[in-house]
Amino acid sequence: MEEKRDQWSSKFGFIMSAAGSAVGLGNIWKFPYLCGTNGGALFLIAYIVFIILLGYPILMTELAIGRNGGMNAVDSCRKISGKWGFAGGFGVAGSVLVLAYYCVVGGWIMQYFLLSITGNIPSSDYFTAYSSSTVPPIIMLTIFIIINAVIVMFGVSKGIEKVSTILLPLLIVFLAGLLVYSLTLPNASEGVKFFLMPDFSGINSVGDFFRIIITAMGQVFFSLSLGMGTLITYGSYLEKNSSLSSSTVSIVTIDTMVAIMSGLTILPAVFSVGLAPNAGPGLIFSTLTAVFADIKAGSIISSLFFLLVFFAAITSSISLLEVVVSFLTERFGLSRFTAVLIPSLIITALSILSSLSYGALADMKIMGMTFFELMIFLSDQVIMPLGGFFLCILAGHIWGTKNLCSEITADGKFPFRPAPFYRFVIKYAAPAMIIIIFVTSIISADNS
Ligand code: TRP
Repeated sequence: MEEKRDQWSSKFGFIMSAAGSAVGLGNIWKFPYLCGTNGGALFLIAYIVFIILLGYPILMTELAIGRNGGMNAVDSCRKISGKWGFAGGFGVAGSVLVLAYYCVVGGWIMQYFLLSITGNIPSSDYFTAYSSSTVPPIIMLTIFIIINAVIVMFGVSKGIEKVSTILLPLLIVFLAGLLVYSLTLPNASEGVKFFLMPDFSGINSVGDFFRIIITAMGQVFFSLSLGMGTLITYGSYLEKNSSLSSSTVSIVTIDTMVAIMSGLTILPAVFSVGLAPNAGPGLIFSTLTAVFADIKAGSIISSLFFLLVFFAAITSSISLLEVVVSFLTERFGLSRFTAVLIPSLIITALSILSSLSYGALADMKIMGMTFFELMIFLSDQVIMPLGGFFLCILAGHIWGTKNLCSEITADGKFPFRPAPFYRFVIKYAAPAMIIIIFVTSIISADNS
């Protein structure tokens, strides 16, 4: 006899875990720098529109597939239609690829935390020197993976839920504190203006406009952990006694709130010392540390900041690992220990290659990309949109919106007012929009 499947111990624990998955490096590392390089407030507006149009419906659909299936991402899809396991399979493969670069960034964050707390705020050029070195980042990423493995070994309610229920609220409190602090810095209002007041002068061509739209859509997927089976897996540990619509609204609201809070913390700080917001991926590592070096109590603020980014990263990376672990335990009957160990070793190997692609392996290009860039490209631009697309088709056309809506409302026990909007989005609008992002991003990757 199989042992009983783990479940969330409370609705609150589930929401903290799912929101913890959503709130991650995407909110604190990516979102502010994407705003910085894509027109500030215009990007924010596009982002919020897509959160409502795509994020809310797709997230809810994944939860519905999972709760109905009561199994890992692949088997939950197969429960709807035997041939559709591949739609969840994208998620299992994709999660490994996301982790292959996510853990590298997680390692950088830990290094920045350790330096800050010992009173050595890294200088702006430290980032290049550190990320291109060989052994030190590999040690950090390995520790980051071990922390993940240990939490996930404890299981869903005793590992993931416990950790998320503590770390996510702490993160929000720390972030709120930093936000208030950042707004009191001199010239902070410049950053607030950049973030909240649309400035159309940055749009010089139709190409600019589309770039902002496409980037915003992609960011919605990434930030909400969509298209990769994460929410299917988390939904599968739910009992059928709550409204998926109201849980989704909570998860999406927390994720969006944290993204906006970090924009309002990081951008004003950057403007306050007269730096530009368009540093790209190095924004929190180079630009922000220059701010910390400039202010009183900088090393305390810096430690607090990197600690909260670390919390955000961990609650997301455990969700990615759980997608793979639930698949391995249920499909192949592996023990939880083995099911955590095997992917962790593979992820460590891939992460080492990603890390080295900043230094020793910088010249090893595959399709014109470094290994790190290739992992981002395959997961964010290929697997995530394709996974999302097939999940919409599976749910909207094969399972059908009638079954979907009755899963969302737990057989009509809960109200679901946006149902007409939802049905239209899942059947037509979302798949069409996803195909547009997919094709455009492939074309633009070809050109660059
Ligand atoms: N959403 C997380 C973030 O914002 C990252 C993440 C976790 C993710 N699970 C995912 C991204 C699944 C894509 C798919 O950092």
